[in-house]
Amino acid sequence: MYFELTEEQKMIRQAARDFAQAELKPGVIERDELQKFPAEQIKKLGELGFLGMMVSPVYGGAGMDAISYVLVMEELSKIDASASVVVSVNNSLVCYGLEKYGSEAQKQKYLMPLAKGECIGAFCLSEPEAGSDATSQSTTAIDMGDHYLLNGTKNWITNGGMGSTYIVIAQTDAAKKHHGINAFIVEKGMPGFTVGPKENKMGIRGSDTHSLMFTDVKVPKENRIGEDGFGFKFAMSVLDGGRIGIASQALGIASGAYELAKLYAKERKTFGKPLADHQAIQFKLADMATEIEAARLMCLKAAWLKDHGKPYAHASSMAKLYASEVAMRTTTEAVQIHGGYGYVKEYHVERLMRDAKITQIYEGTSEIQRIVISRGLLK
Ligand code: CAA
Ligand code: FAD
Repeated sequence: MYFELTEEQKMIRQAARDFAQAELKPGVIERDELQKFPAEQIKKLGELGFLGMMVSPVYGGAGMDAISYVLVMEELSKIDASASVVVSVNNSLVCYGLEKYGSEAQKQKYLMPLAKGECIGAFCLSEPEAGSDATSQSTTAIDMGDHYLLNGTKNWITNGGMGSTYIVIAQTDAAKKHHGINAFIVEKGMPGFTVGPKENKMGIRGSDTHSLMFTDVKVPKENRIGEDGFGFKFAMSVLDGGRIGIASQALGIASGAYELAKLYAKERKTFGKPLADHQAIQFKLADMATEIEAARLMCLKAAWLKDHGKPYAHASSMAKLYASEVAMRTTTEAVQIHGGYGYVKEYHVERLMRDAKITQIYEGTSEIQRIVISRGLLK
C-alpha cells in the first residue's frame, strides 16, 4: 500500500489548482446567476490537455492516468462544478468510450478533435421516460442498409447545445430488449437533429443541459460503435468510469466548501472569540474533514483499480454514492457555519450546496448506486 502521489501527479494537481484560481474563480458567481456556459475556460482547459486527459497521445490525448483525472476533477470542482462536468463527460463518457470501443476510422475522425479539446462531446442515454430505468429506451434506430434512421428524444443532455459530437443510445430491435440497443455517433448539424432550449436548473447552472430531438436523422452505418447489440453494455461500461469523474466532482465540491468554512470559522468572531474556538464548530469541521478524506480515498482507489486493469465498477459506484452524500452534508454544514452570510451568493457556499445536489442524481442516482453495489455484493 503506497499513498504518495508521483511528482507528475502533484504537478498536474497544481496546474489544475492554479487554473481554477486564475481562470475559473473570476466570474463564477456571475456565470451561475446568468446560466452562462464557461466557453473560454473550457477552450483553455482543452489547450491544457484536460479534455482528453486519459486518451493516448496517438489519438491527440494527454496520456495521463485515472489518478490524475481524480486530482484534476477535485481541484476544478472546488471552484466551478459547471466547468468540471464538461471535463468529466468529455473524458469519461465520450473519449473513453470512443478510444476503448470505437473503430480506427471513428477514432481518427471523432476522437482526435475531442481529445485535443478542439470540440466537445455529449453522451445521450436518458429520455423523458427512461432515466434510472435505462433499458427502457424509446429512441429507435432502424437499419436501412447503409444507414440507420434515428427517431426520438433525449433528455437532460450535458453539453447538449455546445457539443459537436454526440454518442446516442437507441433501440434497434425492441424484441431483443437490451440486447437490441446500439450506440451511435451523431454529428451536430445532421438533418433532422434539433436542440431544445437550455434547462433552467437549481445548480451547475453554467453547464449546458438540453433535450435533443431526432426526426428521421440518417446516421451512417459506420457510426455505430461496436458489434450490433453492444450499445447497452457500452453505456454501462463508460458509466463505470464516468462515476469516478462524478465522485471526484462531488469530492471537489465538498472540499471547496470545507476550505471556505474553515477560513470563515477562523475569521468570524462571536461571543468574544473566533467561531473556530467553539467546540461545536470544531466538531463540524472534524466531521467534514474526516468524511472528505474517506471520499477522496474511495475515488483514488477506484481510479487506481482502473489504472491497473482491475475491475472497478463496484468501487466507482461506492465512491460516487459516498462522495455525493458527503458533498451534500458538507456543503449544508458549510452554509450553517457561515450563518446568514452563507445564504447569500457572494460567499460561494450556497452555490456549492446547490451544485452538490446534482451529484446524487446524474450518472445514476444514489438509489441506483445502491442497486449496483448490492447486486455486486450478493451475486
Ligand atoms: N458493464 C457492462 N455490462 C453491464 C454493466 C456494466 N457495468 N452493468 C450491467 N451490464 C449488463 C448486464 O450484464 C446485462 O447484460 P446481460 O443480460 O447480457 O447479462 C445488461 O447490462 C442489463 O443489466 P441489468 O439486468 O443489470 O439491467 P437493469 O435494467 O436491471 O438495470 C442499471 C441496470 C444498473 C439500473 C442501469 O439501468 C443503470 O445504470 N441505470 C442508471 C442510468 C444512468 O446512470 N444514467 C446516467 C446517464 S449519463 C449522465 O447522467 C451524464 C451526466 O449527468 C453528466
Ligand atoms: P427517475 O429514474 O424517474 O427516478 C426518480 C426517483 O426514483 C429517483 O430518486 C430514483 O433514484 C428513484 N428510483 C428510480 N428507480 C428506482 C428503484 N428501482 N429503486 C429505488 N428508487 C428508484 N443523462 C444523460 O444521458 N446524459 C447527460 O449528459 C445527462 N446530464 C444530466 C445533467 C443534469 C443537470 C441532469 C438533471 C440530468 C442529466 N442526465 C443526463 C440524466 C440523469 O442521468 C437522470 O436524471 C438520472 O439518471 C435519473 O433519471 P430520472 O431523472 O428519469 O429519474
